[in-house]
Amino acid sequence: MTTKPRIIISSDHADIALRQDIARHVAERGFTVEDIGPATTESTDYPKHGEAAARRIAAGEFDLGILICGTGQGIMMAANKVKGIRCGVCSDTFSAKMIRAHNDANMLSMGARVIGGGLALEIVDAFLDTEFEGGRHGRRVDMISAIED
Ligand code: RB5
Repeated sequence: MTTKPRIIISSDHADIALRQDIARHVAERGFTVEDIGPATTESTDYPKHGEAAARRIAAGEFDLGILICGTGQGIMMAANKVKGIRCGVCSDTFSAKMIRAHNDANMLSMGARVIGGGLALEIVDAFLDTEFEGGRHGRRVDMISAIED
């Protein structure tokens, strides 16, 4: 990506403070970021938040997305149901780099009940600072897209 990617962030109720910390961190790094909530810690259903963010990436409004739920798993599964979305759950920086470099992931999901806030910010940085390598990986990503069709 030659221009700075536009970022959308969402979560369920599992940790809205972590989501807001990440949004602030990403904005401080100079990215355009939209945090689409939710605004309160009232219990809510992760599928609708994963889908909402994923649809706005699929529509071309944003380039990359960051999702948070308790484990990162449920919200990732919902996002991956939207055509064009490649979302991976990461609890380490190596995986966050590799889902960009090899899988051209356009969404990152993390589990607020799995990792701490400091590590979450490092994972976000690893995800945002890594470019897709293309080449043979492009052919494989195309194979993933073909499954959708
Ligand atoms: C909510 O309690 C929890 O199930 C959710 O945040 C997430 O972990 C689901 O995958």
